[in-house]
Amino acid sequence: MTDRYAVIGNPIAHSKSPAIHHAFAEQLDQDLVYTAELIPLDGLKEGLTKLQSQGFKGINVTVPFKEQVWQQLENKSDQATLAGAINTVIFNDDGSSYGDNTDGIGLCRDLVDNHNIQLSDHRILLLGAGGAARGVILPLLKHQPSELVIANRTVSKAQNLADLFSEFGNIQASGFENISGQFDVIINATSASIQGQVPPIPSTVAQPTTCCYDMMYGASDTAFIQWAKAHKVSQAIDGLGMLVEQAAEAFYLWRGLRPNTQSVIASLR
Ligand code: ATR
Repeated sequence: MTDRYAVIGNPIAHSKSPAIHHAFAEQLDQDLVYTAELIPLDGLKEGLTKLQSQGFKGINVTVPFKEQVWQQLENKSDQATLAGAINTVIFNDDGSSYGDNTDGIGLCRDLVDNHNIQLSDHRILLLGAGGAARGVILPLLKHQPSELVIANRTVSKAQNLADLFSEFGNIQASGFENISGQFDVIINATSASIQGQVPPIPSTVAQPTTCCYDMMYGASDTAFIQWAKAHKVSQAIDGLGMLVEQAAEAFYLWRGLRPNTQSVIASLR
């Protein structure tokens, strides 16, 4: 029987996830259908129950439901518990469900495996302290950077995250203007790109060997990618690869098989 999966969100019509998962399924000869399901903003609980009762085997979760799903699910991975957000749910045959978060693994795979960026023993600057930033902190710290600096417009939110994750590595908080020193990797996890803005960080944080990564992506360069190119950094990478890698990890959780991601990233470009 054909297994069913979906991505839920609002809005959801332009999601690339169905195309990505169908490409994985074709590669690995998996009999599944993956759809995009629009869930009313005030109807998450009913939406989850409906999908599970319709026999869906799992779902991905996107904006604006990741934190709400986290609140609704009792069973979740340690990584998801700390991330405060869930992007992948497994619906078990016994009616129970299990939540995980593959965003951070997706980011690290894109950086390390696809772009050959070293994270261990390097200084990383993470811009933003919202849900997107929080979701990637633990996987980044697992790579043992020499330091992870969280910089945010609202400094208290950066400080809260630094406190929350302090037992997992060397993590510090900062405002944008007073970030000190140079960084090997700068990751933009703010939503400033949506407004075409770049956080007001000092030019001195980037050096010619720095890698800049925007967790967002678009048809044209995001404001942060433009900033990175203007500062002549070694690599300026958008978040399309992260999107495919987080999907691949979700696919693995559901199907126990690892798709080849390179060909799927190339076809989406
Ligand atoms: P997400 O789930 O995408 O992380 P969020 O939780 O609302 O969304 O967080 C948005 C992040 O982008 C926050 O770090 C926010 O900064 P504040 O905490 O100070 O609000 C940041 N952000 C949004 N617009 C920004 C802008 N124009 N300049 C700098 N930071 C911005």
